[in-house]
Amino acid sequence: MIKVKNILCIGAGYVGGPTMAVMALKCPQYNFHIVDINQSRIDAWNSDNLPIFEPGLEEVVKEARGRNLKFSTDVEQGVKDAEMIFVSVNTPTKTFGLGAGEAADLQYWEKTARMIAEVSESSKIVVEKSTLPVRTAEAMSRILKSNSKDISFEVLSNPEFLAEGTAIQDLLNPDRVLIGSEQTKSGLQACQELVNIYKEWVAAEKVLTANIWSAELSKLVANAFLAQRVSSINSISALCEATEANVEEVSLAIGTDTRIGSKFLKSSVGFGGSCFKKDILNLVYIAQSYGLQEVADYWRQVIIMNDYQQERFVLKMIKNMFNTLAGKKILILGFAFKANTGDTRESPAIYVTKKLLEEHASVIICDPKAIESAKIELKDCKGTIEYEIDPYKAAEECHAIALMTEWSSFKLLDYAKIYKSMVKPAFLFDGRNILDHQEIHKVGFNVYPIGKEALTN
Ligand code: NAD
Ligand code: UGA
Repeated sequence: MIKVKNILCIGAGYVGGPTMAVMALKCPQYNFHIVDINQSRIDAWNSDNLPIFEPGLEEVVKEARGRNLKFSTDVEQGVKDAEMIFVSVNTPTKTFGLGAGEAADLQYWEKTARMIAEVSESSKIVVEKSTLPVRTAEAMSRILKSNSKDISFEVLSNPEFLAEGTAIQDLLNPDRVLIGSEQTKSGLQACQELVNIYKEWVAAEKVLTANIWSAELSKLVANAFLAQRVSSINSISALCEATEANVEEVSLAIGTDTRIGSKFLKSSVGFGGSCFKKDILNLVYIAQSYGLQEVADYWRQVIIMNDYQQERFVLKMIKNMFNTLAGKKILILGFAFKANTGDTRESPAIYVTKKLLEEHASVIICDPKAIESAKIELKDCKGTIEYEIDPYKAAEECHAIALMTEWSSFKLLDYAKIYKSMVKPAFLFDGRNILDHQEIHKVGFNVYPIGKEALTN
Protein backbone atom coordinates (compact mmCIF):
# COMPACT_ATOMS: atom_id res chain seq x y z
CA MET A 1 0.00 0.00 0.00
CA ILE A 2 1.35 3.43 -0.96
CA LYS A 3 1.21 6.11 1.77
CA VAL A 4 1.30 9.60 0.34
CA LYS A 5 3.32 12.50 1.74
CA ASN A 6 5.07 14.00 -1.30
CA ILE A 7 2.94 15.04 -4.25
CA LEU A 8 4.27 16.01 -7.67
CA CYS A 9 2.40 17.69 -10.50
CA ILE A 10 3.85 17.50 -14.01
CA GLY A 11 2.65 20.51 -16.01
CA ALA A 12 2.50 24.01 -14.49
CA GLY A 13 -0.25 25.40 -16.71
CA TYR A 14 -3.75 26.79 -16.19
CA VAL A 15 -4.76 23.58 -14.41
CA GLY A 16 -1.60 22.29 -12.71
CA GLY A 17 -0.65 25.64 -11.13
CA PRO A 18 -3.95 26.69 -9.53
CA THR A 19 -5.01 23.13 -8.61
CA MET A 20 -1.82 22.31 -6.72
CA ALA A 21 -1.65 25.77 -5.15
CA VAL A 22 -5.12 25.29 -3.64
CA MET A 23 -4.30 21.74 -2.52
CA ALA A 24 -1.11 23.00 -0.87
CA LEU A 25 -3.05 25.77 0.85
CA LYS A 26 -5.61 23.35 2.25
CA CYS A 27 -3.29 20.44 3.05
CA PRO A 28 -0.21 21.74 4.91
CA GLN A 29 0.72 18.19 5.98
CA TYR A 30 1.64 17.24 2.37
CA ASN A 31 4.49 18.61 0.24
CA PHE A 32 3.60 19.78 -3.25
CA HIS A 33 6.11 20.14 -6.07
CA ILE A 34 5.05 21.43 -9.50
CA VAL A 35 7.40 20.81 -12.40
CA ASP A 36 7.43 21.86 -16.03
CA ILE A 37 9.86 21.67 -18.94
CA ASN A 38 9.15 25.33 -19.69
CA GLN A 39 11.81 27.25 -17.73
CA SER A 40 10.28 30.69 -18.23
CA ARG A 41 6.90 29.47 -16.96
CA ILE A 42 8.53 28.07 -13.82
CA ASP A 43 10.51 31.30 -13.33
CA ALA A 44 7.25 33.22 -13.49
CA TRP A 45 5.59 30.91 -10.93
CA ASN A 46 8.54 31.66 -8.63
CA SER A 47 8.22 35.42 -9.14
CA ASP A 48 5.72 38.15 -8.25
CA ASN A 49 4.51 38.09 -11.82
CA LEU A 50 2.63 34.78 -12.15
CA PRO A 51 2.40 33.29 -15.67
CA ILE A 52 -1.42 33.31 -15.69
CA PHE A 53 -3.99 35.84 -14.56
CA GLU A 54 -6.62 34.30 -12.33
CA PRO A 55 -8.53 36.22 -9.63
CA GLY A 56 -7.36 35.13 -6.14
CA LEU A 57 -4.45 33.02 -7.41
CA GLU A 58 -1.70 35.37 -6.26
CA GLU A 59 -2.85 35.28 -2.63
CA VAL A 60 -3.04 31.47 -2.59
CA VAL A 61 0.41 31.06 -4.17
CA LYS A 62 1.98 33.62 -1.85
CA GLU A 63 0.69 31.79 1.20
CA ALA A 64 1.72 28.26 0.18
CA ARG A 65 4.90 28.90 -1.84
CA GLY A 66 8.03 28.30 0.24
CA ARG A 67 5.94 26.51 2.88
CA ASN A 68 4.71 23.27 1.27
CA LEU A 69 4.59 24.36 -2.38
CA LYS A 70 7.54 24.65 -4.76
CA PHE A 71 8.00 25.07 -8.50
CA SER A 72 10.96 23.76 -10.50
CA THR A 73 12.11 22.22 -13.78
CA ASP A 74 13.65 19.25 -12.01
CA VAL A 75 11.13 16.80 -13.43
CA GLU A 76 13.05 13.56 -12.90
CA GLN A 77 14.06 14.26 -9.31
CA GLY A 78 10.49 15.29 -8.64
CA VAL A 79 9.26 11.92 -9.91
CA LYS A 80 11.76 10.02 -7.77
CA ASP A 81 10.73 11.87 -4.61
CA ALA A 82 6.95 11.60 -4.98
CA GLU A 83 4.49 8.94 -3.91
CA MET A 84 1.66 10.53 -5.89
CA ILE A 85 2.09 12.17 -9.32
CA PHE A 86 -0.54 14.30 -11.05
CA VAL A 87 -0.08 14.51 -14.80
CA SER A 88 -1.45 17.83 -16.01
CA VAL A 89 0.26 18.28 -19.36
CA ASN A 90 -1.49 19.71 -22.41
CA THR A 91 -3.57 17.41 -24.64
CA PRO A 92 -4.39 19.56 -27.69
CA THR A 93 -6.18 18.42 -30.83
CA LYS A 94 -3.91 16.44 -33.15
CA THR A 95 -2.78 18.45 -36.18
CA PHE A 96 -1.19 15.62 -38.19
CA GLY A 97 -1.66 11.99 -39.24
CA LEU A 98 -4.51 9.71 -38.22
CA GLY A 99 -7.28 11.60 -36.46
CA ALA A 100 -5.84 15.03 -37.40
CA GLY A 101 -8.27 17.80 -36.46
CA GLU A 102 -10.25 15.62 -34.05
CA ALA A 103 -8.31 13.15 -31.90
CA ALA A 104 -6.33 14.29 -28.85
CA ASP A 105 -2.60 14.61 -29.40
CA LEU A 106 -1.25 12.37 -26.66
CA GLN A 107 2.47 12.82 -27.32
CA TYR A 108 3.14 15.01 -24.22
CA TRP A 109 1.13 12.68 -22.06
CA GLU A 110 2.87 9.53 -23.39
CA LYS A 111 6.36 11.04 -23.02
CA THR A 112 5.48 11.80 -19.42
CA ALA A 113 4.24 8.26 -18.77
CA ARG A 114 7.43 6.75 -20.25
CA MET A 115 9.62 9.10 -18.25
CA ILE A 116 7.81 8.18 -15.02
CA ALA A 117 8.31 4.47 -15.79
CA GLU A 118 11.98 5.02 -16.55
CA VAL A 119 13.08 7.11 -13.58
CA SER A 120 10.86 5.76 -10.78
CA GLU A 121 12.63 3.87 -8.01
CA SER A 122 9.57 3.25 -5.82
CA SER A 123 5.86 2.48 -6.26
CA LYS A 124 3.59 5.39 -7.09
CA ILE A 125 0.03 6.52 -7.63
CA VAL A 126 -0.25 8.29 -10.99
CA VAL A 127 -3.24 10.60 -11.34
CA GLU A 128 -4.58 11.68 -14.73
CA LYS A 129 -5.46 15.36 -14.30
CA SER A 130 -5.27 16.22 -17.99
CA THR A 131 -8.44 15.64 -20.01
CA LEU A 132 -7.90 12.40 -21.90
CA PRO A 133 -9.84 10.06 -24.18
CA VAL A 134 -11.78 7.33 -22.39
CA ARG A 135 -9.61 4.23 -21.83
CA THR A 136 -6.32 6.19 -21.74
CA ALA A 137 -5.64 4.78 -18.27
CA GLU A 138 -5.31 1.38 -19.90
CA ALA A 139 -2.43 2.63 -22.07
CA MET A 140 -0.97 4.52 -19.11
CA SER A 141 -0.96 1.34 -17.00
CA ARG A 142 0.65 -0.70 -19.78
CA ILE A 143 3.45 1.84 -20.23
CA LEU A 144 4.04 2.11 -16.50
CA LYS A 145 3.93 -1.63 -15.95
CA SER A 146 6.38 -2.24 -18.80
CA ASN A 147 9.25 -1.23 -16.48
CA SER A 148 11.31 -4.17 -15.32
CA LYS A 149 11.81 -2.89 -11.75
CA ASP A 150 10.08 -4.46 -8.81
CA ILE A 151 7.72 -1.51 -8.23
CA SER A 152 4.03 -0.99 -8.87
CA PHE A 153 1.87 1.84 -10.20
CA GLU A 154 -1.78 2.59 -9.61
CA VAL A 155 -3.49 4.86 -12.13
CA LEU A 156 -6.36 7.14 -11.09
CA SER A 157 -8.47 9.49 -13.18
CA ASN A 158 -9.24 12.77 -11.42
CA PRO A 159 -10.49 15.14 -14.14
CA GLU A 160 -10.53 18.84 -13.41
CA PHE A 161 -13.75 20.85 -13.78
CA LEU A 162 -12.48 24.36 -12.98
CA ALA A 163 -13.33 27.18 -15.39
CA GLU A 164 -10.79 29.89 -16.12
CA GLY A 165 -11.57 33.23 -14.52
CA THR A 166 -13.19 31.46 -11.54
CA ALA A 167 -10.54 28.75 -11.02
CA ILE A 168 -9.78 29.52 -7.38
CA GLN A 169 -13.44 29.68 -6.36
CA ASP A 170 -14.17 26.50 -8.33
CA LEU A 171 -11.28 24.71 -6.61
CA LEU A 172 -12.12 25.95 -3.12
CA ASN A 173 -15.78 25.16 -3.51
CA PRO A 174 -16.27 22.55 -6.25
CA ASP A 175 -19.69 21.20 -7.28
CA ARG A 176 -18.01 17.79 -7.09
CA VAL A 177 -14.66 16.08 -7.23
CA LEU A 178 -14.51 12.93 -9.36
CA ILE A 179 -12.02 10.12 -8.79
CA GLY A 180 -11.97 7.02 -10.95
CA SER A 181 -9.94 3.95 -10.10
CA GLU A 182 -9.59 0.31 -10.93
CA GLN A 183 -12.00 -1.65 -8.78
CA THR A 184 -9.22 -3.86 -7.38
CA LYS A 185 -8.07 -3.81 -3.73
CA SER A 186 -4.95 -1.78 -4.56
CA GLY A 187 -6.90 0.48 -6.94
CA LEU A 188 -9.46 1.28 -4.26
CA GLN A 189 -6.69 1.91 -1.71
CA ALA A 190 -5.03 4.38 -4.08
CA CYS A 191 -8.40 6.04 -4.62
CA GLN A 192 -8.81 6.41 -0.85
CA GLU A 193 -5.42 8.20 -0.60
CA LEU A 194 -6.69 10.85 -3.02
CA VAL A 195 -10.10 11.02 -1.35
CA ASN A 196 -8.28 11.77 1.94
CA ILE A 197 -6.56 14.77 0.36
CA TYR A 198 -9.76 16.29 -1.01
CA LYS A 199 -11.65 15.63 2.22
CA GLU A 200 -9.41 18.19 3.90
CA TRP A 201 -11.69 20.89 2.45
CA VAL A 202 -14.41 19.30 0.28
CA ALA A 203 -17.55 17.82 1.89
CA ALA A 204 -17.53 14.02 1.74
CA GLU A 205 -20.75 13.79 -0.31
CA LYS A 206 -19.17 15.93 -3.03
CA VAL A 207 -16.25 13.54 -3.53
CA LEU A 208 -17.55 11.03 -6.07
CA THR A 209 -15.73 7.81 -6.76
CA ALA A 210 -16.31 5.80 -9.92
CA ASN A 211 -14.78 3.24 -12.19
CA ILE A 212 -11.89 4.71 -14.10
CA TRP A 213 -13.58 4.68 -17.52
CA SER A 214 -16.63 6.54 -16.20
CA ALA A 215 -14.37 9.22 -14.73
CA GLU A 216 -12.44 9.69 -17.98
CA LEU A 217 -15.60 9.79 -20.07
CA SER A 218 -17.49 12.10 -17.67
CA LYS A 219 -14.96 14.89 -18.21
CA LEU A 220 -15.49 14.93 -21.97
CA VAL A 221 -19.25 14.65 -21.52
CA ALA A 222 -19.40 17.52 -19.00
CA ASN A 223 -17.71 19.86 -21.48
CA ALA A 224 -19.84 18.60 -24.35
CA PHE A 225 -23.07 19.24 -22.39
CA LEU A 226 -21.96 22.75 -21.35
CA ALA A 227 -20.94 23.69 -24.88
CA GLN A 228 -24.15 22.17 -26.24
CA ARG A 229 -26.18 24.60 -24.11
CA VAL A 230 -24.28 27.58 -25.53
CA SER A 231 -24.72 26.30 -29.09
CA SER A 232 -28.41 25.64 -28.43
CA ILE A 233 -29.10 29.18 -27.26
CA ASN A 234 -26.89 30.61 -30.02
CA SER A 235 -28.93 28.74 -32.63
CA ILE A 236 -32.03 30.37 -31.15
CA SER A 237 -30.35 33.80 -31.26
CA ALA A 238 -30.30 33.57 -35.06
CA LEU A 239 -34.00 32.74 -35.05
CA CYS A 240 -34.68 35.65 -32.66
CA GLU A 241 -32.99 38.10 -35.01
CA ALA A 242 -35.17 36.82 -37.85
CA THR A 243 -38.44 37.00 -35.89
CA GLU A 244 -38.06 40.02 -33.55
CA ALA A 245 -38.06 37.71 -30.53
CA ASN A 246 -35.45 38.62 -27.90
CA VAL A 247 -32.94 35.93 -26.97
CA GLU A 248 -32.52 37.24 -23.42
CA GLU A 249 -36.24 36.98 -22.82
CA VAL A 250 -36.23 33.48 -24.27
CA SER A 251 -33.24 32.50 -22.05
CA LEU A 252 -35.00 33.80 -18.97
CA ALA A 253 -38.25 32.09 -19.87
CA ILE A 254 -36.68 28.69 -20.43
CA GLY A 255 -33.94 28.97 -17.78
CA THR A 256 -36.42 29.55 -14.96
CA ASP A 257 -37.72 26.05 -15.60
CA THR A 258 -35.75 24.25 -12.90
CA ARG A 259 -35.45 21.19 -15.13
CA ILE A 260 -33.46 23.34 -17.59
CA GLY A 261 -31.70 25.78 -15.23
CA SER A 262 -30.39 29.27 -15.92
CA LYS A 263 -26.64 28.75 -16.33
CA PHE A 264 -24.84 28.57 -19.67
CA LEU A 265 -27.74 30.10 -21.56
CA LYS A 266 -26.01 33.39 -22.36
CA SER A 267 -26.02 33.92 -26.07
CA SER A 268 -22.72 35.21 -27.46
CA VAL A 269 -20.53 35.45 -30.52
CA GLY A 270 -19.63 31.82 -29.75
CA PHE A 271 -17.77 29.83 -27.15
CA GLY A 272 -13.98 29.80 -27.06
CA GLY A 273 -11.32 28.46 -24.74
CA SER A 274 -8.79 25.69 -24.93
CA CYS A 275 -11.14 22.82 -24.08
CA PHE A 276 -14.72 22.90 -25.38
CA LYS A 277 -13.85 22.50 -29.04
CA LYS A 278 -10.99 20.06 -28.53
CA ASP A 279 -12.93 17.88 -26.09
CA ILE A 280 -16.05 17.70 -28.28
CA LEU A 281 -13.92 16.83 -31.31
CA ASN A 282 -12.26 14.17 -29.20
CA LEU A 283 -15.70 12.79 -28.25
CA VAL A 284 -16.66 12.80 -31.94
CA TYR A 285 -13.49 10.91 -32.82
CA ILE A 286 -14.00 8.35 -30.07
CA ALA A 287 -17.63 7.76 -31.11
CA GLN A 288 -16.51 7.29 -34.72
CA SER A 289 -13.78 4.89 -33.75
CA TYR A 290 -16.38 2.73 -32.00
CA GLY A 291 -18.51 2.83 -35.19
CA LEU A 292 -21.13 5.14 -33.65
CA GLN A 293 -21.52 7.58 -36.56
CA GLU A 294 -24.88 9.03 -35.40
CA VAL A 295 -23.42 9.80 -31.98
CA ALA A 296 -20.45 11.49 -33.64
CA ASP A 297 -22.71 13.54 -35.94
CA TYR A 298 -24.90 14.61 -33.02
CA TRP A 299 -21.98 16.12 -31.09
CA ARG A 300 -20.22 17.56 -34.15
CA GLN A 301 -23.28 19.75 -34.66
CA VAL A 302 -22.36 21.65 -31.46
CA ILE A 303 -19.13 22.76 -33.16
CA ILE A 304 -20.83 23.47 -36.48
CA MET A 305 -23.29 25.78 -34.68
CA ASN A 306 -20.43 27.55 -32.90
CA ASP A 307 -18.58 28.14 -36.19
CA TYR A 308 -21.81 29.42 -37.72
CA GLN A 309 -22.36 31.88 -34.85
CA GLN A 310 -18.92 33.44 -35.33
CA GLU A 311 -19.34 33.62 -39.10
CA ARG A 312 -22.80 35.14 -38.70
CA PHE A 313 -21.31 37.88 -36.50
CA VAL A 314 -18.81 38.93 -39.17
CA LEU A 315 -21.40 38.74 -41.95
CA LYS A 316 -23.66 41.01 -39.89
CA MET A 317 -20.83 43.54 -39.61
CA ILE A 318 -20.12 43.50 -43.35
CA LYS A 319 -23.79 43.70 -44.36
CA ASN A 320 -24.62 46.58 -42.05
CA MET A 321 -21.52 48.59 -42.79
CA PHE A 322 -22.66 49.04 -46.41
CA ASN A 323 -21.14 45.75 -47.63
CA THR A 324 -17.56 46.94 -47.44
CA LEU A 325 -14.99 47.10 -44.66
CA ALA A 326 -12.02 47.92 -46.89
CA GLY A 327 -10.01 50.78 -45.39
CA LYS A 328 -12.24 51.02 -42.31
CA LYS A 329 -10.77 50.91 -38.81
CA ILE A 330 -12.42 48.56 -36.32
CA LEU A 331 -11.89 48.36 -32.59
CA ILE A 332 -11.81 44.78 -31.23
CA LEU A 333 -12.92 45.46 -27.68
CA GLY A 334 -11.73 42.41 -25.72
CA PHE A 335 -9.60 39.58 -27.04
CA ALA A 336 -9.65 36.98 -24.21
CA PHE A 337 -12.03 34.03 -24.74
CA LYS A 338 -13.99 35.15 -21.67
CA ALA A 339 -13.69 37.78 -18.92
CA ASN A 340 -11.24 37.56 -16.00
CA THR A 341 -8.56 35.69 -17.90
CA GLY A 342 -5.69 36.61 -20.18
CA ASP A 343 -6.16 33.34 -22.08
CA THR A 344 -6.93 33.76 -25.79
CA ARG A 345 -6.89 30.12 -26.87
CA GLU A 346 -9.72 29.52 -29.41
CA SER A 347 -11.13 32.96 -28.63
CA PRO A 348 -13.87 34.00 -31.08
CA ALA A 349 -11.94 37.29 -31.34
CA ILE A 350 -9.24 35.46 -33.33
CA TYR A 351 -11.70 34.33 -36.00
CA VAL A 352 -13.43 37.71 -36.15
CA THR A 353 -10.15 39.65 -36.39
CA LYS A 354 -8.80 37.42 -39.16
CA LYS A 355 -12.01 37.76 -41.18
CA LEU A 356 -12.00 41.54 -40.80
CA LEU A 357 -8.39 41.66 -42.00
CA GLU A 358 -9.37 39.52 -45.01
CA GLU A 359 -11.95 42.22 -45.80
CA HIS A 360 -9.06 44.76 -45.74
CA ALA A 361 -10.26 46.48 -42.60
CA SER A 362 -7.58 47.66 -40.18
CA VAL A 363 -8.01 46.56 -36.57
CA ILE A 364 -7.01 47.84 -33.18
CA ILE A 365 -7.05 45.39 -30.28
CA CYS A 366 -7.88 46.47 -26.74
CA ASP A 367 -8.01 44.08 -23.75
CA PRO A 368 -7.07 44.65 -20.10
CA LYS A 369 -5.16 41.34 -19.77
CA ALA A 370 -4.78 39.68 -23.16
CA ILE A 371 -2.79 42.04 -25.38
CA GLU A 372 0.44 40.04 -25.20
CA SER A 373 -1.38 36.77 -26.02
CA ALA A 374 -3.26 38.53 -28.83
CA LYS A 375 0.07 39.56 -30.39
CA ILE A 376 1.16 35.91 -30.42
CA GLU A 377 -2.17 34.70 -31.86
CA LEU A 378 -2.04 37.27 -34.69
CA LYS A 379 1.71 37.25 -35.40
CA ASP A 380 1.34 35.66 -38.86
CA CYS A 381 -1.57 37.84 -40.00
CA LYS A 382 -1.18 40.28 -42.86
CA GLY A 383 -2.77 43.73 -42.64
CA THR A 384 -2.80 46.63 -40.22
CA ILE A 385 -3.10 45.55 -36.58
CA GLU A 386 -2.54 47.91 -33.65
CA TYR A 387 -2.69 47.23 -29.91
CA GLU A 388 -3.85 49.75 -27.30
CA ILE A 389 -4.68 49.18 -23.64
CA ASP A 390 -6.70 52.41 -23.27
CA PRO A 391 -10.18 51.90 -24.81
CA TYR A 392 -10.71 55.64 -25.31
CA LYS A 393 -7.50 56.03 -27.33
CA ALA A 394 -8.23 52.78 -29.18
CA ALA A 395 -11.66 54.00 -30.33
CA GLU A 396 -10.37 57.22 -31.88
CA GLU A 397 -11.08 57.43 -35.63
CA CYS A 398 -12.68 53.96 -35.66
CA HIS A 399 -15.73 53.20 -37.83
CA ALA A 400 -16.98 50.40 -35.61
CA ILE A 401 -16.55 48.57 -32.33
CA ALA A 402 -16.80 44.78 -32.09
CA LEU A 403 -17.20 43.89 -28.43
CA MET A 404 -15.76 40.40 -28.02
CA THR A 405 -15.19 39.81 -24.28
CA GLU A 406 -17.56 40.51 -21.39
CA TRP A 407 -15.05 42.43 -19.20
CA SER A 408 -17.10 44.35 -16.63
CA SER A 409 -14.87 47.41 -17.17
CA PHE A 410 -16.32 47.68 -20.70
CA LYS A 411 -19.80 48.26 -19.25
CA LEU A 412 -18.53 51.30 -17.35
CA LEU A 413 -16.99 53.14 -20.30
CA ASP A 414 -18.28 56.57 -21.32
CA TYR A 415 -19.80 55.64 -24.68
CA ALA A 416 -20.81 59.25 -25.41
CA LYS A 417 -17.14 60.25 -25.23
CA ILE A 418 -16.16 57.26 -27.36
CA TYR A 419 -18.84 58.04 -29.94
CA LYS A 420 -17.56 61.60 -30.33
CA SER A 421 -14.07 60.41 -31.29
CA MET A 422 -15.29 57.91 -33.91
CA VAL A 423 -16.01 58.21 -37.63
CA LYS A 424 -19.77 58.61 -38.31
CA PRO A 425 -22.02 56.76 -38.75
CA ALA A 426 -20.55 54.78 -35.87
CA PHE A 427 -21.40 51.12 -35.35
CA LEU A 428 -21.31 48.93 -32.27
CA PHE A 429 -21.64 45.13 -32.51
CA ASP A 430 -22.08 43.69 -29.02
CA GLY A 431 -20.91 40.07 -29.25
CA ARG A 432 -21.65 39.52 -25.57
CA ASN A 433 -24.88 41.47 -25.02
CA ILE A 434 -23.42 43.22 -21.98
CA LEU A 435 -24.08 46.87 -22.79
CA ASP A 436 -27.18 48.98 -22.28
CA HIS A 437 -28.19 49.04 -25.91
CA GLN A 438 -30.93 51.68 -25.58
CA GLU A 439 -28.52 54.10 -23.87
CA ILE A 440 -25.81 53.52 -26.44
CA HIS A 441 -28.27 54.02 -29.24
CA LYS A 442 -29.35 57.32 -27.67
CA VAL A 443 -25.73 58.48 -27.78
CA GLY A 444 -25.79 58.02 -31.55
CA PHE A 445 -24.46 54.53 -32.24
CA ASN A 446 -26.03 52.03 -34.62
CA VAL A 447 -26.24 49.07 -32.22
CA TYR A 448 -26.27 45.40 -33.21
CA PRO A 449 -26.74 43.01 -30.27
CA ILE A 450 -26.89 39.20 -30.51
CA GLY A 451 -30.38 37.74 -30.83
CA LYS A 452 -32.14 41.07 -30.38
CA GLU A 453 -33.48 43.76 -32.61
CA ALA A 454 -30.84 46.13 -33.99
CA LEU A 455 -31.15 49.83 -32.98
CA THR A 456 -30.25 51.91 -36.01
CA ASN A 457 -30.32 55.55 -37.03
P1 NAD B 1 -1.28 24.33 -20.40
O1 NAD B 1 -0.79 24.26 -21.80
O2 NAD B 1 -1.56 25.66 -19.77
O3 NAD B 1 -0.22 23.59 -19.42
C1 NAD B 1 0.38 22.37 -19.72
C2 NAD B 1 1.83 22.43 -19.25
O4 NAD B 1 2.41 21.13 -19.38
C3 NAD B 1 2.70 23.38 -20.09
O5 NAD B 1 3.26 24.37 -19.25
C4 NAD B 1 3.77 22.46 -20.69
O6 NAD B 1 5.06 23.05 -20.78
C5 NAD B 1 3.78 21.32 -19.68
N1 NAD B 1 4.35 20.07 -20.23
C6 NAD B 1 4.11 19.47 -21.42
N2 NAD B 1 4.85 18.35 -21.54
C7 NAD B 1 5.57 18.24 -20.40
C8 NAD B 1 6.52 17.29 -19.93
N3 NAD B 1 6.86 16.22 -20.67
N4 NAD B 1 7.08 17.49 -18.71
C9 NAD B 1 6.75 18.57 -17.96
N5 NAD B 1 5.85 19.50 -18.35
C10 NAD B 1 5.27 19.34 -19.55
O7 NAD B 1 -2.57 23.41 -20.34
P2 NAD B 1 -3.80 23.51 -19.31
O8 NAD B 1 -4.77 24.53 -19.79
O9 NAD B 1 -3.27 23.57 -17.93
O10 NAD B 1 -4.47 22.08 -19.55
C11 NAD B 1 -3.85 20.89 -19.10
C12 NAD B 1 -4.86 19.77 -19.20
O11 NAD B 1 -5.97 20.03 -18.35
C13 NAD B 1 -5.45 19.58 -20.60
O12 NAD B 1 -5.65 18.20 -20.80
C14 NAD B 1 -6.78 20.28 -20.52
O13 NAD B 1 -7.73 19.72 -21.40
C15 NAD B 1 -7.19 20.02 -19.10
N6 NAD B 1 -8.09 21.03 -18.51
C16 NAD B 1 -7.89 22.35 -18.73
C17 NAD B 1 -8.71 23.31 -18.14
C18 NAD B 1 -8.53 24.79 -18.36
O14 NAD B 1 -9.39 25.55 -17.93
N7 NAD B 1 -7.49 25.25 -19.01
C19 NAD B 1 -9.72 22.89 -17.27
C20 NAD B 1 -9.89 21.52 -17.04
C21 NAD B 1 -9.06 20.60 -17.67
C1 UGA C 1 -14.91 25.04 -19.37
C2 UGA C 1 -15.84 24.38 -18.34
O1 UGA C 1 -16.79 25.34 -17.87
C3 UGA C 1 -15.03 23.82 -17.16
O2 UGA C 1 -15.89 23.11 -16.29
C4 UGA C 1 -13.95 22.89 -17.70
O3 UGA C 1 -13.15 22.39 -16.65
C5 UGA C 1 -13.08 23.63 -18.70
O4 UGA C 1 -13.91 24.13 -19.78
C6 UGA C 1 -12.04 22.78 -19.34
O5 UGA C 1 -12.15 21.57 -19.41
O6 UGA C 1 -11.11 23.42 -19.83
P1 UGA C 1 -13.66 27.40 -19.56
O7 UGA C 1 -13.44 26.99 -20.98
O8 UGA C 1 -12.50 27.86 -18.77
O9 UGA C 1 -14.30 26.17 -18.73
O10 UGA C 1 -14.76 28.56 -19.50
P2 UGA C 1 -16.36 28.59 -19.57
O11 UGA C 1 -16.85 29.45 -18.50
O12 UGA C 1 -16.95 27.23 -19.66
O13 UGA C 1 -16.61 29.34 -20.94
C7 UGA C 1 -16.31 28.73 -22.20
C8 UGA C 1 -16.78 29.62 -23.33
O14 UGA C 1 -18.21 29.62 -23.40
C9 UGA C 1 -16.37 31.08 -23.17
O15 UGA C 1 -15.97 31.59 -24.40
C10 UGA C 1 -17.64 31.74 -22.67
O16 UGA C 1 -17.68 33.11 -22.97
C11 UGA C 1 -18.68 30.95 -23.43
N1 UGA C 1 -20.01 30.98 -22.79
C12 UGA C 1 -20.20 30.44 -21.56
C13 UGA C 1 -21.08 31.54 -23.47
O17 UGA C 1 -20.93 32.04 -24.61
N2 UGA C 1 -22.31 31.56 -22.89
C14 UGA C 1 -22.52 31.02 -21.66
O18 UGA C 1 -23.69 31.07 -21.17
C15 UGA C 1 -21.44 30.45 -20.98
